[in-house]
Amino acid sequence: MSTVLYLPGDSAALALGADEVEHALKVEALARKLDLTIIRNGSRGLFWLEPMLEVVTPAGRIAYGPVTASDIPGLLADNFLHGDKNHPLYLGKPEEIPYLKNQERLTFARCGIIDPTDIEDYIAHDGYRGLKNAIGLPGAAIVEAVTESGLRGRGGAGFPTGIKWKTVASCAADQKYIVCNADEGDSGTFADRMIMEGDPFQLVEGMAIAGMAVGATKGFIYVRSEYPHAFQRMQDAIREANRAGFLGPDILNSGRAFQLEARLGAGAYICGEETSLLESLEGKRGMVRAKPPLPALKGLFGKPTVINNVLSLVAVSTILEKGAEFYKNFGMGRSRGTMPLQLAGNIKFGGLVEKAFGITLRQAIYDFGGGTASGRPLRAVQIGGPLGAYFPDALLDTPLDYEAMAAAKGMLGHGGIVVFDDSVDMALQARFAMEFCAIESCGKCTPCRIGSTRGVEVIDRIRHGIEPEKNKVLLADLCDTMLDGSLCALGGLTPFPVQSAVRHFPEDFNRPTKQAAAE
Ligand SMILES: Cc1cc2nc3c(=O)[nH]c(=O)nc-3n(C[C@H](O)[C@H](O)[C@H](O)COP(=O)(O)O)c2cc1C
Ligand code: SF4
Repeated sequence: MSTVLYLPGDSAALALGADEVEHALKVEALARKLDLTIIRNGSRGLFWLEPMLEVVTPAGRIAYGPVTASDIPGLLADNFLHGDKNHPLYLGKPEEIPYLKNQERLTFARCGIIDPTDIEDYIAHDGYRGLKNAIGLPGAAIVEAVTESGLRGRGGAGFPTGIKWKTVASCAADQKYIVCNADEGDSGTFADRMIMEGDPFQLVEGMAIAGMAVGATKGFIYVRSEYPHAFQRMQDAIREANRAGFLGPDILNSGRAFQLEARLGAGAYICGEETSLLESLEGKRGMVRAKPPLPALKGLFGKPTVINNVLSLVAVSTILEKGAEFYKNFGMGRSRGTMPLQLAGNIKFGGLVEKAFGITLRQAIYDFGGGTASGRPLRAVQIGGPLGAYFPDALLDTPLDYEAMAAAKGMLGHGGIVVFDDSVDMALQARFAMEFCAIESCGKCTPCRIGSTRGVEVIDRIRHGIEPEKNKVLLADLCDTMLDGSLCALGGLTPFPVQSAVRHFPEDFNRPTKQAAAE
């Protein structure tokens, strides 16, 4: 009988040599006449253990990791195909690893478990139950369930998904669209990618449900250009879903239609901003559109359009499968459900941690992340991508909840948590924020286009000790102008990392730094 092995085909595992591990397994299997079936699954999100190889045994799946190609002969010698404990890379049952065991995985429940290319495997793991439930409901009832669940957009702004859908549903139009924002440009984030590579049918399902809810028959997934594997997985999943009747002109004989296409993004951070994304999808340069009109009323090709992040759309399949009440029972305050946090930067155990809202930053970074990778003291954490605020240690007890983060002058964004140790120069990080904005600005409005370049210059003057007090006042004034006068959140939020660095780490702005002196 064939022994079944799971080896992630996820980009993180590929970057760490998963293909070489597969090759080594095949070579050894041939030489030793072993009958192996190797399934390329998604990642479980424990990146320091990738590539994590799992073998199916009568006692369940047993994991070994991080495995390199050169480990394979030794693993075979130690009888890993029977789940033997002897090898030093033995991890036991993956679901018993505390990092995974202590999570509340709803969105990521299947990721790393199923074969992402096999629709039958998805169905066997409760896939398409949400869609089947949705088919029996009128659109308004689906919108009501999503509203009732308390789901808020996971792309950054935390806007209530049900309200957005209701706006589109109540528009009369000959054509409406569902657009999935899979541009995932935030630093330290990878949750969208993991879903697309590890559980792509869930996104297809969420989008088909969204289409039924608002009366849209066509959808697009705008996939970040740096995600070729995710793009391929989504294209394969769309083809399979069409073949099996979960997409197409008559979904599961319901009389409801939904067509889906994946498109590659244009490779600019601003293309993740929803109106720029629409321009880009229409084949134009990614420039921000002035609002109003909202995309919900006049979006893709001028038609009513739902734009949602990957994580928002996949959460919908859980909500329709298990009910709004079930989903709502996770979380705190007005932040309901779970949030897939992404631990990155200088952190010992980087990876994906899905928890109900309300876990503190400290718990995420220390209980899951194990502190800094360097072993040096933690100094700063940037939450919510390149436009997110930097928090010092004193703010680490802030719960991860939209309102609590805003009260601490930060934002949760897409859930990226990037850790820095005490070697970080925060004046340089503030400069980086302005420089990033200058490079990524679409150029449509002056506060962002010109302000960001002036911001780099003024921070450089402070860093070099040139009239520091006068330039700090100027920097504060510039930040206010960008905050109040920018057309979109790229220029409007860049002051967050800058001002938080000045507020929490003033000592870095009080002296010419070593690096500044060397420039
Ligand atoms: C500069 C900029 C970049 C953004 N990038 C992304 C992105 O990569 N992915 C995403 O889902 N939302 C991104 N957003 C937020 C989108 O504009 C929009 O709010 C989101 O797609 C709405 O989906 P949601 O309600 O499900 O969060 C970005 C916003 C700005 C201002
Ligand atoms: S804030 Fe920047 S990115 Fe946004 S519209 Fe203005 S110039 Fe473009």
